[in-house]
Amino acid sequence: MDPVLVSGMRPTGKLHIGHIFGTLSNWVNYQDKYNCYFIVVNWHALTTNYENTKDISSNVIEVLTDYLAFGLDPLKSTIYLQSMVEEVSVLHLILSMITPISWLERVPSFKDQIQQLGKNIATYGFLGYPVLMASDILIFNGKYVPVGQDQIPHLELAREIARRFNFLYGDTFVEPEPILTETPYIPGFDGRKMSKSYNNAIFIDESEEETEEKVKRYITDPQKIYKHSPGRPEICNVFTLHKAFKNSEIREIEQNCRSGKLGCVECKKKLSNLINSYLKPIREKRRDLQKDRNKLLEILIEGSKRAKKVAKEKIEEVNQKVNIGLLRGV
Ligand code: TRP
Repeated sequence: MDPVLVSGMRPTGKLHIGHIFGTLSNWVNYQDKYNCYFIVVNWHALTTNYENTKDISSNVIEVLTDYLAFGLDPLKSTIYLQSMVEEVSVLHLILSMITPISWLERVPSFKDQIQQLGKNIATYGFLGYPVLMASDILIFNGKYVPVGQDQIPHLELAREIARRFNFLYGDTFVEPEPILTETPYIPGFDGRKMSKSYNNAIFIDESEEETEEKVKRYITDPQKIYKHSPGRPEICNVFTLHKAFKNSEIREIEQNCRSGKLGCVECKKKLSNLINSYLKPIREKRRDLQKDRNKLLEILIEGSKRAKKVAKEKIEEVNQKVNIGLLRGV
């Protein structure tokens, strides 16, 4: 049996082009090498959105549609909804018993997020975010977890929790390892990192015209005042995106920008064409998938059933180890 790989995304909104590189485009390739579990982690969405939950369900469908449109295949991978596998919450509870509070308070995103999003998110559940993430992984004996740099502390914690459990109750969990995916920096059209919350994102699910309009708004090299002024690709957001989308004419663009032969208007037109042609098949598949909502739900239910079967076995093992539930030896 192939080693297990686990990854997931929170259903907090539409995905944008910053989600493609480093995540979705890699996940597709893992499907043939690993026994993959791709989760839509809706409980995790509650940790930061508990005051406004009305969009979580529709966002689940959005994320699922994106997964499938990018080529995640329910015949190859187990694609499921976190909350449909309640065993994960049982493991979360048990692991929370052995996780010292100090480990959780040390996780950098805990303090950072409170600073950014305000004290209201500083709940018990939010503190336990990494314990829930550890449960997602450990319940399937996850060996590999493709994540970005920001998730490394969470994964380190998952390893420590696994180790502690194994030490206390005997070998039970695999210690998961990160597959660190280089995520190229994707600027939004205001120059800050692309993020839905900054309102500067190019969405996978938008029209070609919208994408073209957004690309037009990118700030390029401020010294390139006229079409024929020489530009500096190394500081240009548009050039960064040409590179991220692996434009085959990257050399020419670089040279012609520097020499002043290529103006920003034309360069942006090339970029929006590139993005739109990259996204064309994905957008088409998305529209197709959206036509049959029942089929989407079926995929999620089917995947969740499969995940549940594996999770149930693991919980039985865990319960036995911690002497819960079976009333053994009474
Ligand atoms: N914390 C991850 C993120 O915000 C999402 C996540 C939840 C996850 N559970 C996971 C990722 C399990 C990998 C494995 O990106």
